[in-house]
Amino acid sequence: MCLAISYKFINYYKKEKMENIKKNLLIAWLKDAYAMEKSIIQTLTAHSKEAEEYPEIQDKINEHIEATESQSERIKNRLEAMGENVSGIKAFTMEIMGKAKGYAEKFSEDKIIKNTLAEIATESYEISAYQTILLTAEKLGDEETVEMAEEILQEEKEMENWAKDNLPVLIGLFFEKETAETHADEEI
Ligand SMILES: [Fe+2]
Repeated sequence: MCLAISYKFINYYKKEKMENIKKNLLIAWLKDAYAMEKSIIQTLTAHSKEAEEYPEIQDKINEHIEATESQSERIKNRLEAMGENVSGIKAFTMEIMGKAKGYAEKFSEDKIIKNTLAEIATESYEISAYQTILLTAEKLGDEETVEMAEEILQEEKEMENWAKDNLPVLIGLFFEKETAETHADEEI
């Protein structure tokens, strides 16, 4: 009898401990997502300026900056509802977004291609991050976080699809422009 109670207590304790680990991880991953979105706003703002000669792309980037601002706000609200504070969380530089450099940069407009590749890679990372948050929240029965992660996931997938679908169009535009500029240089 006494042994049975002890086992029950140990099992209860183990379960409680596991739930706490999951909850603490969920909070940590939400904080990472908040820092990530803050960093993405900074990078996308720079990418928007660099897309001046490609108005459609610039519009889409600006639209995604607004979505990203809203995402960071939703995450902040979730964290605050969990009793957490976001004031000390700083944007961290995404290696992919911030430091995508290469030999081809000697062509001035090459930046637009590099930025698009970085955006596709970043969206893919974000999708995995929100899937992790979603699955953990599901395990905890945290419906508000599940709902928020599902919403954000859809937005990230939409942006990733747009960037991937738009890549062939962009490559076409890029070479058209490069060719026109090369001809203009030759005529001088
Ligand atoms: Fe995002």
